[in-house]
Amino acid sequence: MSQDFEPEATRRSTGDAESSRASRGWWDRNADEYQSEHGTFLGDDRFVWGPEGLDEADAALLGPAGSLKGLDVLEIGAGAAQCSRWLAAQGARPVALDLSHRQLQHALRIGGDVPLVEADAGVLPFRDGSFDLACSAYGAVPFVADPVRVFREVRRVLRPGGRWVFSVTHPIRWAFPDEPGPEGLSVAASYFDRTPYVEQDEEGRAVYVEHHRTLGDRVRDVVAGGFRLVDLVEPEWPAWNSQEWGGWSPLRGNLIPGTAIFVCERD
Ligand SMILES: C[S@@+](CC[C@H](N)C(=O)[O-])C[C@H]1O[C@@H](n2cnc3c(N)ncnc32)[C@H](O)[C@@H]1O
Repeated sequence: MSQDFEPEATRRSTGDAESSRASRGWWDRNADEYQSEHGTFLGDDRFVWGPEGLDEADAALLGPAGSLKGLDVLEIGAGAAQCSRWLAAQGARPVALDLSHRQLQHALRIGGDVPLVEADAGVLPFRDGSFDLACSAYGAVPFVADPVRVFREVRRVLRPGGRWVFSVTHPIRWAFPDEPGPEGLSVAASYFDRTPYVEQDEEGRAVYVEHHRTLGDRVRDVVAGGFRLVDLVEPEWPAWNSQEWGGWSPLRGNLIPGTAIFVCERD
């Protein structure tokens, strides 16, 4: 299902509707390649926060070992639901939500009995106060134009005191070329330029979108969404990880952060 044209990469404004449409199309077309390239690293039932390989089994950002049993957990932008399968093995009751039908078909292929929901993170199809916890490993948040809308939805479906933990590309990466080698080590753009990264077709329609927020923007968004920031984790590149993942590599990972994980609690 790969596309038969070479998209043009640019920086331009784009709103929620266009971003959502582009993400659905891109992830439907690229889910097969994503899962075949990264599936082994992700594992069928591990909870990996990003390309550094930080594992929730070690990080315990959702709560201490043993505390997830019996909790209702929403995973947003779940892809093939690897993290949800790990949560189920801890005794939690996860629901895996994703915008992409093809990603969820991979969840079905891998198996397990985690409920799958095809929906946009900006409009969550759940009643108020349905979950104890929400989490997302690089799902949805980097791809939406209005993250506060997503955070407010997450807040709505969480019970009081519920945790919301999500990882995104570390904002500092936006100042550097997205290259794993030495060319990815020199600042090439303004960190302060929030103009989205857009790949578009010949008609100028977005086919892939990523949105940049500075670290300060992200903190303000979390607060505006009705959360308290409890921790901000910047995983260091571990010695065991020799794998490149797009622009993430041991070379760059040893020098600059690649992932930011926001640990938040519902006010
Ligand atoms: C980088 S993948 C991460 C998937 C999974 N969490 C993992 O670690 O492999 C991003 C996922 O977010 C999903 N996504 C993007 N925009 C979304 C949105 N607005 N609502 C829900 N899911 C979205 C994509 O379909 C994709 O599966």
